[in-house]
Amino acid sequence: MKINYNSIQIFVVEDEQAMSKKAANMVAGQIHLKSDSILGLATGSTPEGMYKNLVQMHRDGDLDFSDVTTFNLDEYEGLSPDNCHSYAWYMDHHLFGQVNVNEYRIHIPMSSGLDVDAVCARYDKLIEESHNIDLQILGIGTNGHIGFNEPDVKFEAGTHLVSLDEETIEANSRFFESTIDVPKRAISMGIRNIMHAKKVILMANGANKGKAIKAMVLGPVTPELPASVLQLHNDVTMIVDKSAGKLLLEAFNQKGITTLSKV
Ligand code: PGA
Repeated sequence: MKINYNSIQIFVVEDEQAMSKKAANMVAGQIHLKSDSILGLATGSTPEGMYKNLVQMHRDGDLDFSDVTTFNLDEYEGLSPDNCHSYAWYMDHHLFGQVNVNEYRIHIPMSSGLDVDAVCARYDKLIEESHNIDLQILGIGTNGHIGFNEPDVKFEAGTHLVSLDEETIEANSRFFESTIDVPKRAISMGIRNIMHAKKVILMANGANKGKAIKAMVLGPVTPELPASVLQLHNDVTMIVDKSAGKLLLEAFNQKGITTLSKV
């Protein structure tokens, strides 16, 4: 099912598998059209299936990453890439270690043993020098965060150090032995970095994302729900499964907004 609402294109698909396949097809399309694409990449449970599909396309000889440049959205403060909880480790495991991305074109805002302010400033400069991201992949937190841009009184523009929300620490504790082990701070691209991306794909699956999905599309644009800023971007595609899209679809129905086509 497809809905166009303001400048946002929304696909509501059957399940996580369909979401992952659709997102992977769009990423592959981007790379086929522009082999030296700059991709903004996300971590977490949501994009795992998408990475699986991309790896398979590469193995089948249908996708070449050799000219692609990547910028990851975020990384826990101070974790080194060989720590299995780091997003550098996640990316190596789910994508980079299995495709032919050139390691010199991989960027992750790692701060282990480094000055955090310098890491943030350098990350912004590198993104800018690349003339911004062609295609940014995003998940969404149950609190509406994108990257680790947590609900706040203002939008942070550039790459910055973040104190993670209690809700995020709780949500991410499933990857750790216990909540206490979750790092309390992270480095994240800012809202300007994300908004300067030429195209954005936001993915979500599961009923726990339903409230945030509805609020990001129909609620006010507010730093209290960071994803809502995407209402101001002119090329956003959302791919959500039926559970994540349920509340939004119900709200559309109440407003008399109908779906445009079946997908
Ligand atoms: P998740 O996280 O994919 O693990 O649900 C998404 C996010 O926090 O952006």
